Amino acid sequence: MSQKYDDLKRLCNEIALQGGILAELSWNQETYMPKGAHANRANQIELLAGIRHKLKTGPEFKKILSSLIDIKTGKIKTKLSKDEETNVIRLREDFIRDHVLPVSFVEKFAKLTSEATEVWQRARQENKFKLFLPYLEKLVTLNQEKADRYGFDEHPYDALLDGYEPGVTTRDIRDNFDPLKKTLQEFVKKARSAKIKLPFKTYPQEEQFELSRRLLEKLPYDFNNGRLDISTHPFSSAQHPTDSRITTRIDLKDPLSSILTVLHEAGHALYEMGLNAKYFGLPLGEPISYGIHESQSRWWETRIGLSLAFWKGFTPLLHSMNILNGVSAEKLYQYVNHVEPSFIRVEADELTYPLHVILRFELETALIDGSLKAKDLPEKWNELMKTYLGITPKTDTLGCLQDVHWSHGSFGYFPTYLLGNMYAAQLFDAFEKEHPNWKKRVEKLDLPFIKEWLNHNIHRHGRRYQAMELIKKVTKKPFSSKPYIDYLENKYITGKK
Ligand code: CO
Repeated sequence: MSQKYDDLKRLCNEIALQGGILAELSWNQETYMPKGAHANRANQIELLAGIRHKLKTGPEFKKILSSLIDIKTGKIKTKLSKDEETNVIRLREDFIRDHVLPVSFVEKFAKLTSEATEVWQRARQENKFKLFLPYLEKLVTLNQEKADRYGFDEHPYDALLDGYEPGVTTRDIRDNFDPLKKTLQEFVKKARSAKIKLPFKTYPQEEQFELSRRLLEKLPYDFNNGRLDISTHPFSSAQHPTDSRITTRIDLKDPLSSILTVLHEAGHALYEMGLNAKYFGLPLGEPISYGIHESQSRWWETRIGLSLAFWKGFTPLLHSMNILNGVSAEKLYQYVNHVEPSFIRVEADELTYPLHVILRFELETALIDGSLKAKDLPEKWNELMKTYLGITPKTDTLGCLQDVHWSHGSFGYFPTYLLGNMYAAQLFDAFEKEHPNWKKRVEKLDLPFIKEWLNHNIHRHGRRYQAMELIKKVTKKPFSSKPYIDYLENKYITGKK
């Protein structure tokens, strides 16, 4: 190993350690920090984030990196092993992306999003889109500027998307979302079901917590390297493969809601735990993309957690804790798979969920290419809701003000939520080929073989491949929406489950 590569590794390690400390600060803020400490915590985070940003983009990093690879041409300058080379190539990609934006732009962007988030919260609470509008206009303009600075071939949205799903273009997304859109509208009409009533009682927090812990141990989610805590918005937070935590939200009247949340967040956490610790701080020790990350969470939440096999395995555990005694696995399965168009994306069922994402993708791309003006957003939102889901929100709070992403300036993020589901579907087909008896095992709550498969096929590669390359490598087929459409059709329309 060359001295220069060693220097690069040391620097990357330092940056990753600082990233971990930042994650710890944020995790603590969402879980146990006294409320009054808010401003001080913000100062701490700002300080450390600044130090980290300087290290990542400073002259030392550039000097070391450019001694190994030509930043302009991408030509490797020194003898490296295959893995070292991959790390250096990916680091160059990141470096270029980090350097296109001048500091003044980054600061302006950060200031605007911090103000916009506060205003958005108020606008949502008071149902006043007008409050948010001037901020949204500026956010769109700054994102257009960002896209211009990054550069793009076809659509300005490509440049933004690249920050979340490297290598995937707006055209790729359209090609895959469009066939889905029509089919899903038909599916939703046919699969709508009446809501089942379950004899819920009140279930104390500790009891539900214990239930979640027992389920997590079955995956297995290693509590030696993780934690489960409570927060207002569930999330996962990883610092290192040996420290990958999750949180959940407890609904005292519905013990099933936390179960699916926990499976979702555990999917994210297991990905981080499954990364190669040897490459900590280097691309080969990092997750690929937002979409692949979401494929892991949705895998556990929907492909496992919404399957009949899972409820057959899990119901005895529920009953053993005196929860929903006498309610059959089939009934619980029907309950969690209830299909009905609704306004809020994060509460949507598996079949209507993709339409919520497609709607945002279409609005975002139109805002960014200028064909939709920010002031016309509520009207356009409601129009698309009516077309795709057949319902119209009475307020903007239930409509275009519901998600936090735009106030954060995160244009390009939404499609990854659906890509994740589609990746998961295609990967699951490959998994099913290797484990045709997976249902029989899941019915016994025998789950570790699933994690092993994901570890082996996805987690351990880090960023060796881009998302579409990985999908092709694992499934031997190019990425397509077909496996996802087939899965939904089998489950909800033809009833093969
Ligand atoms: Co997620």
